[in-house]
Amino acid sequence: MRAYVLERSEKRPRLSERPDPAPGPGEVLVRATAVAVHPVDLETAAGGNAMLLPAKRPFVPGVDFVGEVEALGTRVSDLDVGDVVYGYRGIAAQGTFAERLAVPRAELARAPAGHEALELACLPLPGLCALQALDDAGLEGRLRVLVHGGAGGVGLIALQVFARLGHEVLTTASAKDTERLRALGAAQVIDYRSTRFEEVARAIDLVFDTVGSDTLSRSFAVTRAGGAVVSLRAMPSAPALRAAGLKVPAPMAALLPLLSWRVRRRARAAGVRLVPQVTVASGARLDTLSELGAERPFVTVRDTAFPFDRLPAAMDRAASGEARGRVVLTAP
Ligand SMILES: NC(=O)c1ccc[n+]([C@@H]2O[C@H](COP(=O)([O-])OP(=O)(O)OC[C@H]3O[C@@H](n4cnc5c(N)ncnc54)[C@H](OP(=O)(O)O)[C@@H]3O)[C@@H](O)[C@H]2O)c1
Repeated sequence: MRAYVLERSEKRPRLSERPDPAPGPGEVLVRATAVAVHPVDLETAAGGNAMLLPAKRPFVPGVDFVGEVEALGTRVSDLDVGDVVYGYRGIAAQGTFAERLAVPRAELARAPAGHEALELACLPLPGLCALQALDDAGLEGRLRVLVHGGAGGVGLIALQVFARLGHEVLTTASAKDTERLRALGAAQVIDYRSTRFEEVARAIDLVFDTVGSDTLSRSFAVTRAGGAVVSLRAMPSAPALRAAGLKVPAPMAALLPLLSWRVRRRARAAGVRLVPQVTVASGARLDTLSELGAERPFVTVRDTAFPFDRLPAAMDRAASGEARGRVVLTAP
């Protein structure tokens, strides 16, 4: 099969021939039909996560996927050949920029009907981020949720997930996106370029932060005591990174708390729980995502779709700053 490989010191993966994987016990062989290019893929290609990754180059990058079941390993009996599935392998496992993948059954789910492969490609990682945030926050009842970056690749899906689960959703975004995000369930859209969200948002139970830095620091002021701020951009702890299968050398483990003490102090002072998220694979959460998508299709925003043999161009587009929505790679 064809797969992309990140060679030593190269910044873009190179197309190469690899042996077809065979599904082991409890695994599913998936023929990929679409794969999203995420910010983390650009970081990995640029060498950003090198110290944390268990695999050393050369390896096949890519974190999530959509595809069709081609074969089942032993102990998998609840899927059929031809089923459309999607999943997230995570940044420790990688390996989805390939024509075929052998994936543990527990890490994928049947995709919701009513979506094209290109739309499905926009769902797994963002949906998992949102559902994991709810689990990690551990808050009960109908929540008042503030999504930072509601028009982004993660924020757009997270906003729909929270709204479909019945939570009240406020979001920060550019003014041009206001009507679109309202139509997707946002009760209030705050134009982050003209308004400081603290002037509008109050008594938030859960902040879901995809932006970080100053936006993260200011979020504790709008969160009620006992509430939670789940951030995709905060410095994670060594245990969270290790739980996601990443390697954390001892000197880095010692450094991480020092790098995050200021933001943790702010959270403590406000009586708010700060959860820096490292997203993990979960077929069970993807099942929930599929149930939510079965009610009516999720709205996704896609930029360009590139054919499988043009991943470097797809990554250049995603890195250009000009892409409006997710860049997706399609396999034949
Ligand atoms: N920790 C993890 O496991 C994990 C998992 C997934 C993603 N992430 C990280 O999460 C981040 C977001 O990912 P993404 O895929 O959603 O990125 P994206 O598609 O590039 O979206 C970023 C969004 O943030 C908006 N934005 C920028 N500055 C803002 C501000 N000050 N206030 C409110 N919104 C603002 C942008 O709005 P405009 O449209 O106005 O430019 C854009 O819509 C990335 O850094 C990614 O690496 C981490």
